Amino acid sequence: MCGIVGAVAQRNITPILVEGLKRLEYRGYDSCGVALHVNGKLERSRSTSRVADLEKQLAEVGLDGFTGIAHTRWATHGAPASHNAHPHFSPNSDNARIALVHNGIIENHDELRAELTALGYVFQSQTDTEVIAHLVDHMYQGDLFDTVQQAVKRLHGAYAIAVFCREEPHRVVAARQGSPLIVGLGQGENFVASDAMALAGTTDQIIYLEEGDVVDLQLGRTWIVDVNGRPAERAVKTVHAHTGAAELGPYRHYMQKEIFEQPRVIGDTLEGVTGVMPELFGDGAYQVFKQIDKVLILACGTSYYSGLTAKYWIESIAKVPVNVEIASEYRYRDSVPDPKTLVVTISQSGETADTLAALKHARSLGMEHTLTICNVATSAMVRECKLAYITRAGVEVGVASTKAFTTQLAALFLLTLTLAQVNGRLTDEEESNHLKAMRHLPSAITAVLALEPQIIAWADDFARKENALFLGRGMHYPIALEGALKLKEISYIHAEAYPAGELKHGPLALVTEEMPVVTIAPNDTLIEKLKSNMQEVRARGGQLYVFADADSRITSGDGVHVIRMPENYGQLSPILHVVSLQLLAYHSALARGTDVDKPRNLAKSVTVE
Ligand code: F6R
Repeated sequence: MCGIVGAVAQRNITPILVEGLKRLEYRGYDSCGVALHVNGKLERSRSTSRVADLEKQLAEVGLDGFTGIAHTRWATHGAPASHNAHPHFSPNSDNARIALVHNGIIENHDELRAELTALGYVFQSQTDTEVIAHLVDHMYQGDLFDTVQQAVKRLHGAYAIAVFCREEPHRVVAARQGSPLIVGLGQGENFVASDAMALAGTTDQIIYLEEGDVVDLQLGRTWIVDVNGRPAERAVKTVHAHTGAAELGPYRHYMQKEIFEQPRVIGDTLEGVTGVMPELFGDGAYQVFKQIDKVLILACGTSYYSGLTAKYWIESIAKVPVNVEIASEYRYRDSVPDPKTLVVTISQSGETADTLAALKHARSLGMEHTLTICNVATSAMVRECKLAYITRAGVEVGVASTKAFTTQLAALFLLTLTLAQVNGRLTDEEESNHLKAMRHLPSAITAVLALEPQIIAWADDFARKENALFLGRGMHYPIALEGALKLKEISYIHAEAYPAGELKHGPLALVTEEMPVVTIAPNDTLIEKLKSNMQEVRARGGQLYVFADADSRITSGDGVHVIRMPENYGQLSPILHVVSLQLLAYHSALARGTDVDKPRNLAKSVTVE
């Protein structure tokens, strides 16, 4: 989702801004732009294409400068069109005094637009951002830092903004409320960006701005005030941000590469786990785990499905009651808080606005025991939670999450064992068996990846369908949900998942010869019931595509296609089964020729509500 980079320096910053935008591309965007202070004027270049095209555009017109801002936009207000792309200018492009980029949503933009229109401002876009640019211009009285502090008081909603002004050539002012923003400190130059990764290679001295902060960036100084306008000291951290995605190597897409990285990154995530130890989740984790008597998991999308899987594990192994909530619902609904709850947020990016808001909401209800399972150690989520387990999936470039999901599951299984141990429900022998199974995961996943040729053969069938059903039971039901989400996200085939027992209560009406029904069939205690559900499908002509454990005695036949999973993996089976569903989604999308790594309308890091 939208990315911001800004710089004030004594050298040409165009390459820094462009490189920063490239590093933010993974978040998803549909247009991009750069604005610079050039010979006493504000100049900009915008594009609805990729950052690489913007870079060419900038080189063609020779746009260089020492002070400027840049942006990747993911459309919320107004179509993905050049005139809606940031930076926005005010009062207008020919005579611009203010240039501004924004991430977030301004809820009172209609009211402000009416007010500014009455003052004579002419709007050139449908964005809520242009409203802020005109507001800053209207309030400007010679000091940009002062003006921005006053202007943000008029904004309702979420924002991270970076602004500069024609009349103050060596200054960028930025502010945040509800959207991420960091400051990067250099030698006689300073930067602002949506995350530290955008500045990798430029500076590793990072300040994480807090809610309501406004920062003044000049050549040799930065000055921060807090939400009340008081000077604020913020710690400077040395951050070794990932320097971006590695090369594709032999793979056609990042998603394929990331699916195949899973054996390694699960190994990395569990590296150093020599036993079940609460301290793996942070200092003081034992005391926290000892005090809590229930778990509340908050997450969105794929991360929510890893939470749903964890519910099955935690309730069955640790015997601790678990509630899993979609963050965007939880944050607004009335619920019954209990201070003896462990609030667990799960997030690949650590910046998802809904999950951060749900966490804040839980805390405001008096639930102070917070833990995050997160892939980005420097993210807001990790900073906001008392305890953390950092998954080590590495940078995930494909918008559809794969390796981040399975590493979350690995971390959540470890959490399950830890809660079980703290509650006296894990014998030494059980601990050793579970750990052995976890250590064997990388080779078990490698065996699933070897099924790729068989899955490609199925994908050719799927590519011609417009609908699909996914069935699972027990802890494989969330895996069915994740399989359906992966398929719809990247192939645009409409897919729904159901617990198999629910089929006869409605969705069976959809089943005809045209309906492929993907069935996850581990050899567990529900296998005979699942076989009956499969009969219900076949009786209506539905085509079954079954991922069956080697020992589940389901064989291919008329309308029943079976791929045998290499082994029955017991409690950790969801981690293996989801890998085959990721491959099915990937190859179906490939056969349909979609943009696998950047599916339409989706962003990698969802930093707006
Ligand atoms: C789907 C996907 C999304 C994310 C969701 C939450 O493939 O990646 O559903 O899981 O947007 O994002 P995070 O995990 O960053 O909080």
